[in-house]
Amino acid sequence: MAGLLVNGRDIEVDVEPDTPLLWAIRENLGLTGVKYGCGIGACGACTVLIDGAAARACTVTVADAAGRKITTIEGLADKGMLHRVQQAWVDVDVPQCGYCQTGMIMAVVALLNEKPQPSDADIDAAITNICRCGTFQQVRAAIHAAIK
Ligand code: FES
Repeated sequence: MAGLLVNGRDIEVDVEPDTPLLWAIRENLGLTGVKYGCGIGACGACTVLIDGAAARACTVTVADAAGRKITTIEGLADKGMLHRVQQAWVDVDVPQCGYCQTGMIMAVVALLNEKPQPSDADIDAAITNICRCGTFQQVRAAIHAAIK
């Protein structure tokens, strides 16, 4: 058993301590906005926030995440209002297939937590998530829309 703080809720999950956080979130908590892509920390599809910073949930164990503040895409909207990054994604119409976009959005939220007005160089350095549809230009446009 491990205690996780996910989207503001304290939740006990019955998994081995070395279980990747990705699987505890998806399989035990049913929060399937967190996606599986590569499983080795390379693609970013599984990105969540841990204490406000981007983390690739396939590379973090439940034991390491215990007691820290975890936010998934499901916890981003507040009182029925989309987060400004989510709204920018809608306004700019970023997604194509959409599979990687939840992780992409979480990585951008983490970037804006750290740098409220990122330059294009900051964006390129921080957003290393892979999108097989090639939405990178729309992602950059949406980040600029979100910080206006
Ligand atoms: Fe975690 Fe690809 S599934 S980085």
